[in-house]
Amino acid sequence: MEDECHPWDHYKDVLRFLDAERDVSVIKSSFKPGDTIHYVLDRRRTFNISQTLHSLLPEVSPMKNKTFKTCAVVGNSGVLLKSGCGKEIDSHGFVIRCNLAPLVEFADDVGLRSDFTTMNPSVIPRVYGALRDERQQERFIRRLQQLNNSVLWIPAFMVKGGERHVEIVNQLILKHKLKVRTAYPSLRLIHAVRGYWLTNKINIKRPSTGLLMYTMATRFCDEIHLYGFWPFPRDGSGNPVKYHYYDGLRYRYFSNAGPHRMPLEFKTLKRLHSKGALKLTTSKCT
Ligand code: CTP
Repeated sequence: MEDECHPWDHYKDVLRFLDAERDVSVIKSSFKPGDTIHYVLDRRRTFNISQTLHSLLPEVSPMKNKTFKTCAVVGNSGVLLKSGCGKEIDSHGFVIRCNLAPLVEFADDVGLRSDFTTMNPSVIPRVYGALRDERQQERFIRRLQQLNNSVLWIPAFMVKGGERHVEIVNQLILKHKLKVRTAYPSLRLIHAVRGYWLTNKINIKRPSTGLLMYTMATRFCDEIHLYGFWPFPRDGSGNPVKYHYYDGLRYRYFSNAGPHRMPLEFKTLKRLHSKGALKLTTSKCT
């Protein structure tokens, strides 16, 4: 029976759970400075909407009335190295990237275009030395300048721990008048995404950024192409594959105790690929 479904039925399903306009970002008129909100994944703790954050909340959702024929969602797997996929990725109408991954040095394989870039608060201590000194701040500012007025999506209200990093980032954006369109996902987003996959009998407690982006993209993209999704330490021929194309981070997500279940997510995406609902590229682009 399953195979009789039309591939696009999958997208129609998502419509019931997700509202791109409302869920991609909260908007200014919903809050005032000083409000507190409960973290999505830790309801006992609260996040304070500072003056700085409030001034960076968008007036309207960055995806309002936007639709695209083809989109690329680019994950960060080392499978992209030597793929030569840069040109193909950049040719899509809308390109989504994750966690401020570097582009310039890897342009042939990953491309340069970014319309929407995510940034988990944890990137700040891990990659930018918590922005403690000027050198790190400059590096970070240079990276944000490359976004060139595209969307910077910061999941600030997911889990406790990132509040001060989000505050420093916001202050730098304001101080240096950086041209980025900041967005902060709604509290509903993760539940909507999880609920959607649950109805497909896939229990993903904490969807990875890549899966969140794919699920969201179904709301505004006709055709979705995924690159850099390969959560395995070896390729099909047994050759090693780096976890990230740009750093030495190790694989951490192979036990169910880890925050994500990327191999399960991958299996699901692969199935959708076989049905023609999305296009997953895990080899070289021709
Ligand atoms: N990804 C993948 N295979 C890898 C690495 C990443 O499929 N070897 C995908 C995942 O969907 C991941 C996305 O690419 O969410 C972005 O990668 P990364 O920045 O590494 O995400 P993480 O920090 O590992 O996880 P998250 O941001 O989701 O917490």
